[in-house]
Amino acid sequence: MLTQTDLEAMDATKYGDEVLLVQGLIDNSPLRGAVRSQALMDAQAIVRKARERAKPVGMLETFLEEFGLTTPEGLALMCLAEALLRVPDQETADRLIAEKITSGDWGGRAGKSDSTLVNASVWGLMLTGKVVDVGAEARKDLGAFMHRLTRKAGEPVIRAAVGQAMRIMGEQFVLGRTIEAAIKRGQGAIRKQHASHFSFDMLGEGARTQEDAARYAKAYADAIEAVGKTSNGLGPEKASGISVKLSALSPRYDARQRQQVHESLYPVVLNLAQIAKRYDIGFCLDAEEADRLVLSLEILNRLAHAPELNGWNGLGLAVQAYQKRAPKTVETVIAIARSSKRRIMARLVKGAYWDAEIKRAQVAGRPDFPVFTTKPATDVSYLACADLMLRAPDAIYSQFATHNAHTLAAVRCLAQAAGQEAYEFQRLHGMGETLYATARDLFGDMNGRVYAPVGAHEDLLPYLVRRLLENGANTSFVHAFLDEDVPVERVAGDPLTALEAGTRRHLKVPAPPALYGEARANSKGLDLTLAPDVTALEQAIATQAQKSQGQGSVAIASPQNHKFIVGHIDETSLEALDAACDVAHKAQPAWDRLGGYARSLILTRAADLMEADRARLMALCSAEAGKTLQDCIDEVREAIDFLRYYAAQAAQEFQSPVELPSPAGETNVLSLHGRGVFGCISPWNFPLAIFMGQVAAALAAGNSVVAKPAEQTPLIAQAACEILYQAGVPKDVLHLVLGDGRTGAHLVSNSKIAGIAFTGSTNV
Ligand code: FAD
Ligand code: 2OP
Repeated sequence: MLTQTDLEAMDATKYGDEVLLVQGLIDNSPLRGAVRSQALMDAQAIVRKARERAKPVGMLETFLEEFGLTTPEGLALMCLAEALLRVPDQETADRLIAEKITSGDWGGRAGKSDSTLVNASVWGLMLTGKVVDVGAEARKDLGAFMHRLTRKAGEPVIRAAVGQAMRIMGEQFVLGRTIEAAIKRGQGAIRKQHASHFSFDMLGEGARTQEDAARYAKAYADAIEAVGKTSNGLGPEKASGISVKLSALSPRYDARQRQQVHESLYPVVLNLAQIAKRYDIGFCLDAEEADRLVLSLEILNRLAHAPELNGWNGLGLAVQAYQKRAPKTVETVIAIARSSKRRIMARLVKGAYWDAEIKRAQVAGRPDFPVFTTKPATDVSYLACADLMLRAPDAIYSQFATHNAHTLAAVRCLAQAAGQEAYEFQRLHGMGETLYATARDLFGDMNGRVYAPVGAHEDLLPYLVRRLLENGANTSFVHAFLDEDVPVERVAGDPLTALEAGTRRHLKVPAPPALYGEARANSKGLDLTLAPDVTALEQAIATQAQKSQGQGSVAIASPQNHKFIVGHIDETSLEALDAACDVAHKAQPAWDRLGGYARSLILTRAADLMEADRARLMALCSAEAGKTLQDCIDEVREAIDFLRYYAAQAAQEFQSPVELPSPAGETNVLSLHGRGVFGCISPWNFPLAIFMGQVAAALAAGNSVVAKPAEQTPLIAQAACEILYQAGVPKDVLHLVLGDGRTGAHLVSNSKIAGIAFTGSTNV
């Protein structure tokens, strides 16, 4: 059995250097020689032939051709689809619809597409069609009609019509509301040779509660029973199977909850796998977010070695080629298979969460992305993984999921080169029909499985959004497949050539540290799914807990453990507060004269000092404010971001005087200055971030500051001030006063105060 250490070794390349990795992909690509030229010829033949065929039947394909995500209408639809089901009240739903509908130029587009389905759906969306018949007048000037109608957007009929249009879109991707209905429809498709077998997926993911998880687990168990009964002993490779999203089975499917995952989620998965084994059908763990990769391998590793599952070859995992760890993942799956002496069904996909991975990494301040940033890199990585899989037939039953003609053609060629026949292709229900029908015409029968979501509209949302992104994105193969305006050579080009010719990483997708470009550095996050990051943080917190903070007569207890005294302070007397205001008042003009640039250097230095000392600050946020680890990270990062943000503003806006036009020969000069002494009163819930935000803004603008933090969290504020002093803020410019609301009230009423920054309760 692979050890935890073996599996965590994968993480070494999670944020690998893309330039090096891409060079490795180029140097070692299996796409060479005859394979390379044949794949290109076959791919282009598929596209040409598909374009000769009748126009596609798929409503959505035509629909997105008309309203791609680059048009305002396409975006409006996307937003509607994504948002509508989440809106809890009717009034908001109506307003959302009105806003989205008026942002599109429907009048300009309607009727342009040949497909009646597209028009039906557009009309449905435009509150006509099936639900409301608006008659000839509306048909003449649809745009005007739309706007008139949406002005009266309170009408339930509008809501119903838009809901209906969304449902039409959704149904494109769902095989049936229940597993029974889906199996029945699936059998019809098999008879018509649109598919040979299925992998059914019960819609639902990202369970938020235990109840959700239990409901999804039951749906899966029932589905496996139902699918199993149709399997006729064909075995996992020939019979229909099941795809499972582990995030549906637990609200705690998260690397930070590793122990819980093994204690509570694993038994549920094992139980489902046992039912699948009983019927000898396939059971694939879908690939979800990159942060969950190692966790899913841990589960696979345990399942593969579970004695209850001995002698069954239906266990499977989806592998995402867009991840930098993709080849390593394939190698790991092969190692798990070999160590457990079984064959694993591996479904190779490119990956459906690209946009989310990019945004998550940027927001969380990760060192880099876990995924490639260029499409050709993913394409070439896919083929590298495919080759690894095809060359390990003892360990892997290969399943290739793609809707891309070149990928399909190249996989065929690689399989031939590897002398491998026992593998299959997969497509999603509602997609790729034209591609596979054409490929069958050209190359003869292909083993093809259809991934078929099953379930109710309410659970469709995330899946639908991924499909809309996939269909609408201009990098997507399906988006340009049948578009005659895009040359065949471009739709089905050689990805290795594109990779060699292009930049090694995308120039317009800034790595997380460079998110703000020239303006400022992004604050560094910590990845709590990586064992070394967690260990370091936990050690820092433990060390910190040994030390008592500050001095004084008032003990500050930790909110989560009143026996744990975090440190001591002395409250500031009202006389001392007044004295601080006087000193701050005297010090302000010099601080103001220093100028924005000099102040920006000090604030930036403070940000860097905080970043270097973040473990101690997180430990304090945890001890004094009772924050969870992730909240501690976010808190410290926000404080750092505030410092850098206001530093940049100080440098820009508060630097040298700006000369203005002088139309009558006079001199006009604009210069910005602080107002005097600012009182900054901040709350306990963001004891570092809001404290620092208020203080940094006031300082940046040339004010001196008397800061009063919440009485619950004085030690964090003290630590923040120490850092500011260390960075170069003079002690007479920044004063910390400690106490409860009376101190705050006194501060506000002091005559030297020129402005107040306050965050707190309405009463206060
Ligand atoms: P292409 O158009 O060739 O590729 C599109 C893909 O390229 C995007 O989806 C993305 O992965 C990648 N890409 C696009 N732009 C960039 C960029 N700038 N940088 C890097 N990469 C980029 N997905 C999962 O995540 N988990 C699953 O378990 C899963 N199961 C699937 C099962 C089946 C049967 C099928 C058909 C798909 C499944 N998918 C799954 C979805 C799959 O990831 C997408 O359908 C697939 O990425 C589309 O690739 P393509 O070869 O069809 O199309
Ligand atoms: C998804 O849910 C198909 O698993 C893939 O997007």
